[in-house]
Amino acid sequence: MFNKKITIAIQSKGRLYEESKKLLSNSGISFRIIENRLLTRASNVNVDILQVRDDDIPSLVSNKVADLGIVGKNLLDEQLAGDKSLSVKETISLGFSKCKLCFAKPKDSTTDSLNNKVIASSYPNLVNQYLKQNKIKADVIKINGSVELTPYIGIADYICDLVSSGATLEANNLEATETLMESEAVLISSNDVDDTNFFDLVNRFKGVINAKDSKYVMLNCDESNIKKICALLPGSESPTIIPLEQKRKFAVHALCKEPVFWETMEELKENGASSVLVLPVEKILN
Ligand code: PRP
Ligand code: ZN
Repeated sequence: MFNKKITIAIQSKGRLYEESKKLLSNSGISFRIIENRLLTRASNVNVDILQVRDDDIPSLVSNKVADLGIVGKNLLDEQLAGDKSLSVKETISLGFSKCKLCFAKPKDSTTDSLNNKVIASSYPNLVNQYLKQNKIKADVIKINGSVELTPYIGIADYICDLVSSGATLEANNLEATETLMESEAVLISSNDVDDTNFFDLVNRFKGVINAKDSKYVMLNCDESNIKKICALLPGSESPTIIPLEQKRKFAVHALCKEPVFWETMEELKENGASSVLVLPVEKILN
């Protein structure tokens, strides 16, 4: 597997770290990360893992030090907006670390527009791009950390920062006004490299991502209820219908690509399903 060595850069700590490692190990890559070590070699496949600061990942991939990288879309777009020489592209969305980049202001502030205001952000390029697109005149100051404090020390009217649970805004008495972008972790590769080199690995990533929300559902029902029940199975394509020993009784097996909630199971039961089993799906290879 993976004849040519693949080097993949991930964040060494922070919001993407744990999920990035989980994606790699669920994709069949065995490794043991030693703290503070830059490079980890997988023990079973031809893969090297680089643990670096997330700001460095796009340029490491652009310069082909790493073949692939896992970064937040927010960081990627900010760097692409600011550095035209960066030659990387988003390969696939990875479905974790979902958050939004939002404008926010103090709850007690009486201003109602960004016009002529001062905005503090770690994403000045994206903010300036947004202002330009929306024909708004405002000053942007770049702050690297603790952006949420800037309205209180009197240096900004608004902030533009990542919001995930909303706890940071709440704790700082701020409220979100508008969303600049939705973000999540993405896989990036260089624009000038043939992606077929990573085809198998990227397919494994896709298999793990697809499986995450998927469940395998098995249930029994009368012949007369099959149609109704199949229509209730969330995100399933073509369920398998198997006759049971008992006359006019059938088993329905389906891969559901959307979450199966208790409410759905209860509805299935109300429509004549019995012995409803919901099983986890580990991997999918299409
Ligand atoms: C981000 C962002 C907020 C917080 C939002 O910071 O800057 O502070 O997360 O998340 P919440 O809505 O769940 O509270 P991060 O933790 O990435 O660290 P940083 O600010 O040091 O980069
Ligand atoms: Zn923060």
